[in-house]
Amino acid sequence: MDRQQILVPQADIDRQREICRRVRERLGARLGLGARLGLGADSASPLAFVDTYGCQQNEADSERIRGYLEEMGYGFTQDEEQADVVVINTCAVREHAEMRVLGNVGALTHTKRKKPGQIICLCGCAMQEPHMAEKIRKSFRHVDLVFGPHVLWRFPELLERLLTEKGRVFETPDMDGVIAEGLPVRREGTVKAWVSIMYGCNNFCSYCIVPHVRGRERSRDPELILEEVRELAQAGYKDITLLGQNVNSYGKDLGLNMDFAGLLEQVNAIPGDFLVRFMTSHPKDASQKLFETMARCEKIAPHIHLPFQSGNDRVLKAMNRKYDRAGYLDKIRRLRELMPDIVITSDVIVGFPGETMEEFEDTLSLLQEVEFDALFTFIFSPRKGTPAAELPDPMSRAEKGRNFQRLVDAQNEISAKKHQAYVGTVCRVLVDGAGSDGTLSARTAGGRLVHLEGGPELAGSWQNVKITGASTWALFGELV
Ligand code: SAM
Ligand code: SF4
Ligand code: F3S
Repeated sequence: MDRQQILVPQADIDRQREICRRVRERLGARLGLGARLGLGADSASPLAFVDTYGCQQNEADSERIRGYLEEMGYGFTQDEEQADVVVINTCAVREHAEMRVLGNVGALTHTKRKKPGQIICLCGCAMQEPHMAEKIRKSFRHVDLVFGPHVLWRFPELLERLLTEKGRVFETPDMDGVIAEGLPVRREGTVKAWVSIMYGCNNFCSYCIVPHVRGRERSRDPELILEEVRELAQAGYKDITLLGQNVNSYGKDLGLNMDFAGLLEQVNAIPGDFLVRFMTSHPKDASQKLFETMARCEKIAPHIHLPFQSGNDRVLKAMNRKYDRAGYLDKIRRLRELMPDIVITSDVIVGFPGETMEEFEDTLSLLQEVEFDALFTFIFSPRKGTPAAELPDPMSRAEKGRNFQRLVDAQNEISAKKHQAYVGTVCRVLVDGAGSDGTLSARTAGGRLVHLEGGPELAGSWQNVKITGASTWALFGELV
């Protein structure tokens, strides 16, 4: 598709922001002076509750929804019973994620009964699945607004329609997707920030719903990404994560002689004391140039999340992953050659339809061979509309459960051993959370969690920490 058709015209975004002003005026009678003057919410402001399921991409989208809500004069609450507007940003990646959402949305009937004017909105990936939107239409009649990821940028218009007209609003157009720049963002926290560098996915792994609900790959303009990172660095953000379903194919659609490694190089050149992470890398496009760039650039975190999904070539082919076991292992070897201490994490699916016990053993042996620092293990979940959901799946749920447990046990042992190797070393960590009881949580450059003691004034600072203990999940340390 033509780039001009993908980019939402600035005038259309301006119109949405104009609607925000209109909604703020409309709510004006209830707003306190601060909010009426556009100075932010105060005690008289209407309240919004935004709940997010799924991946970081959804977290980043929710920050835009909150940005719009703030512009409309809403304050925020963590309690859905107090909220005038509830927004639930859903995920469709596995059945479990969808079921959790439906359970929680069902429970909102009680909240709405107590607060009859409450507006309930559902958005995100699951709403882009036709059968889910239909289910909400028919069986969840207390839901007022349903919209898909492609029209998130039109949220003010959709909410205004609800405020001014009777009836429910469903807006889930089937399309390839757009890029909407210049939306307001209300970020959670002041230390870590998400920066989307691209949207959508072209890979169509046979089990995965994401390309069906998020549309085709489209890369943001590099200048806008660099500007956003520059602003974040100047604002004091220390941990910046570049987001995309497959960041390694960044730029392929731009025709600008710019790839992901080139983008990283330019992000690295931005002044400031910050670290850059990125998610997710597809192994088929993880290039030697990327590895060399990571090794050379001091601001790029020594961490890669490189999902392998299966250790067996037949299964990888059936998954449409477009790499094989040997190719994956070769990339791991090359990464470690360049960066011996790199933290490597991964995703794996157990119980893909037709996976035999021998094929499962290949997955187990791959994780033992690589020794990942951490692993996210999932049991295959059939997704309506994906090819894998149609395949014969003879292995019983119980057998899949046993295989799942074997992977988890093997990985726990490896994670514990890897963490043990940190004990006695001194690490530079970023303090990213402070408890009221004098405890701090921090991350190493490679992303390992460290618990330590210290005052809340250290939140957001880099510290040197001596690692004194370790468990499967975390490290324990003391300030040097
Ligand atoms: N784009 C990323 C990639 O290709 O590595 C992954 C994104 S997906 C949101 C995160 C993980 O969910 C995948 O790596 C995969 O392990 C898992 N996943 C996706 N679809 C699944 C399904 N149908 N059943 C079980 N796990 C699934
Ligand atoms: Fe899903 Fe594959 Fe795309 Fe990742 S690369 S989002 S697993 S289709
Ligand atoms: Fe879920 Fe959508 Fe992310 S399906 S994992 S929220 S891209």
